[in-house]
Amino acid sequence: MNAKAENLNFVTINGLLSYGEALVRRPSVEGAELPPAPGPSEDRPKRVLVAMTAIRAFVHDAQKGFADAAAYGNARHQLIQQACGGDDLVFFAAWNQLLAQGELSALMRAPIGATIKPTRRRPVAIVPREHMTPNLAEGRIVLDIGNDQFWLMPKDLSDRTLFLTMRHGVSQVDSKKFRVGRRLKNVLDPERGIPKAEAIGTALARTLGLVGKQLDFLHLHNYLDPKSFVHMVSRSPNTRQLFERVVSILSPDTAKTTQPIVEGALESQDFGWATGIEKTAELEEAAKAFGVDTKTAQRLIKHPLYSYPGGHSFFELYVDLVDGFHHLGQTHQGEVLCLYTHSSTLRALLIFLDPRPFSEAFSEFGAYKEGQDNVVLLTFEHGQLSGYSTAVGLSERERAAREAWKTVEQERRDKVTLHPRQIRRVVALVSGGDFAGAGAALKELRVTGNRLGLEVYFVQHGFLGLANNWIELVTEQNTRGMSNHASSPIGSSRFEDFKDEEVQLAAIHHLKPYMEDGALVVMGGDGSMRGARAIFERFGIQVIGIPGSIDDNIAGTTSLGLQSAVALANQSIESLKATSAAMGSVFFVEVMGAGSGHLALMCAYQARAEGLLVNEHPDPDAYIEEVILGTLKQTLGVQNKSHIIVVAERTPHCHHPVGGVHGLVDYVANRISQWTHLQTRSGSYPLSVATKATILGHTLRGASPTPVDKTMAQHLAYEAIRSLVEQPQEVIGCMLAYRDSGTIQPIPLHALAPKPFDWELFARMHGTELAL
Ligand code: F6P
Repeated sequence: MNAKAENLNFVTINGLLSYGEALVRRPSVEGAELPPAPGPSEDRPKRVLVAMTAIRAFVHDAQKGFADAAAYGNARHQLIQQACGGDDLVFFAAWNQLLAQGELSALMRAPIGATIKPTRRRPVAIVPREHMTPNLAEGRIVLDIGNDQFWLMPKDLSDRTLFLTMRHGVSQVDSKKFRVGRRLKNVLDPERGIPKAEAIGTALARTLGLVGKQLDFLHLHNYLDPKSFVHMVSRSPNTRQLFERVVSILSPDTAKTTQPIVEGALESQDFGWATGIEKTAELEEAAKAFGVDTKTAQRLIKHPLYSYPGGHSFFELYVDLVDGFHHLGQTHQGEVLCLYTHSSTLRALLIFLDPRPFSEAFSEFGAYKEGQDNVVLLTFEHGQLSGYSTAVGLSERERAAREAWKTVEQERRDKVTLHPRQIRRVVALVSGGDFAGAGAALKELRVTGNRLGLEVYFVQHGFLGLANNWIELVTEQNTRGMSNHASSPIGSSRFEDFKDEEVQLAAIHHLKPYMEDGALVVMGGDGSMRGARAIFERFGIQVIGIPGSIDDNIAGTTSLGLQSAVALANQSIESLKATSAAMGSVFFVEVMGAGSGHLALMCAYQARAEGLLVNEHPDPDAYIEEVILGTLKQTLGVQNKSHIIVVAERTPHCHHPVGGVHGLVDYVANRISQWTHLQTRSGSYPLSVATKATILGHTLRGASPTPVDKTMAQHLAYEAIRSLVEQPQEVIGCMLAYRDSGTIQPIPLHALAPKPFDWELFARMHGTELAL
């Protein structure tokens, strides 16, 4: 988010000072703990200039990072004390003036404690009702997350923390109309707030399976005991009231004796002297101070880095919360924490859980409203938070989602500037993890593009190449032999710096000359499609996506590269099966897919592997014990029988910190050595058993393209060019999806979703799909 790009040039030091002073002068609001009013000062404008220099240095140093939120908070506090002489108004004006000049943006990327978003998260095990089998659900915590979906996790929480995070509903001072925040102790509205709090309690009880039965046919045991839950509130009475209502529903017997803990990470934002002010009055006051209309003034106040006079910004709340939640996770392992908090907490959590960088995710959840999700479920395991948010009233959520979709889809169409038959040039790149089929798609883009009179350009190494201006015109000669090329003939890259606005601006600067009557084709996986979406939405680049990733993890399409990766894995797995059958050994075969197990499932299913360990599994340790060891106990020693277990890279388990195949060979060998039926007795000599690991890893990304991938690639590329020429309105800002039926259809980039794991196939592979 670029403050300059958002046009904050109406902001001046004098305007900020007179606005801040006006807020300080307002009559105090009942019940609000406002910061002490600063004394009169003649030379504030001069002191602001000095403070700006210190804040610039602070932003610069912040790039080196802060160990945690407290270190960041202390450094910021020092700025107010030392560089601003303890004068909150001087700080307010200096900070926000720099914000308006675009000089604070780098803060949003500074590594502060746990706020650095993980590049990959373990997928949460979410299973739709129709795929739920006794095998999956039994012995697990099952959370009903609504919409006929269930979140599964191990019943043993010993090295995990489960957070049930709720926000209070409607309070007496309505946060829709007033700035409330941590300085105003608010209470629930007796008429609407109390019933809403009870509705949240009832919804949570349903999620936990305490009322009604989630899945009758499974006769599930409930492993969560609400009596053992730890409850935490903020200092505001409304969160305590919410706690009281919820706990009276979750555990009526102990409700009276249960006490909550007051937890700092659950506080809402500090609005300083704006606390208690009506939002319309706040805007009018700001508009007066800056000499603009209220809509313009709102641009400043809505910015996530805008610091309230005497308070802080949403960004600071986010830092405290993300770090605070990680700390709670570390210090409460094995516990279920019920957290009663404010809507800003839920908003900050959604922003953190979203894979995009802070500024982009903030724009997405900026309009987070009452009536949306009221409960966010999170787990903390292996040092990481994973989560899922859910609404109390699903119909309301669905309606909100539909409304949001309509608006965003209209915005997409409004951003399409190309008219039918106007396009003259196409620029193509491959981004993210490479995949087979990229060559065939590129060749088809060149062939069909040229045939329809377009110039075709390729960018070397994806978005990195854009930033470096590695863009070249392509001729027939350049694409000879390309369709059978393994991986990407024009390179690819993972380019984390592309999240940086300045880097994006450089890339756009290089791209712009080609974009006059032109379009960009981005080939890659989910991350690349996010990059494509960002430059379409921010800079209006006319972009179209083609799915390519061995992970095949985008819903509604098959991605290029999957088929070829499976074909290559098949060759290795069949070789391993042969040697396994001959020698009686056990092979753990690791394939890629730390973020999604589709590839592993495809490999294991077609090879009729004995087992499959994936990141999506709710309980990998239990799977190792029950399924892997259980199966091997039966199959080891059988003559000419192969033993293959497919493992997705980095699946976490307790036998090695890195997960995946690591640690499994020794652990399983040790367990097998204790099985008496495999031990030599007099007159009986069982087959000796060895356990081995093979990591196929990146070989799969560099697989030669199979005919299926080449055909799909050509279809997709042909359709990209054809539709860019004939119906740009339908495909720009979209990814072309290759449906199972073989048809190709656009999906708007903003509507892309992760592909759900195919639990039905997983169950069928284990023979547990039918509830007999
Ligand atoms: O491109 C997807 C993928 O191959 C995943 O399957 C895998 O987890 C990851 O990339 C490996 O990434 P890297 O390029 O960092 O080795």
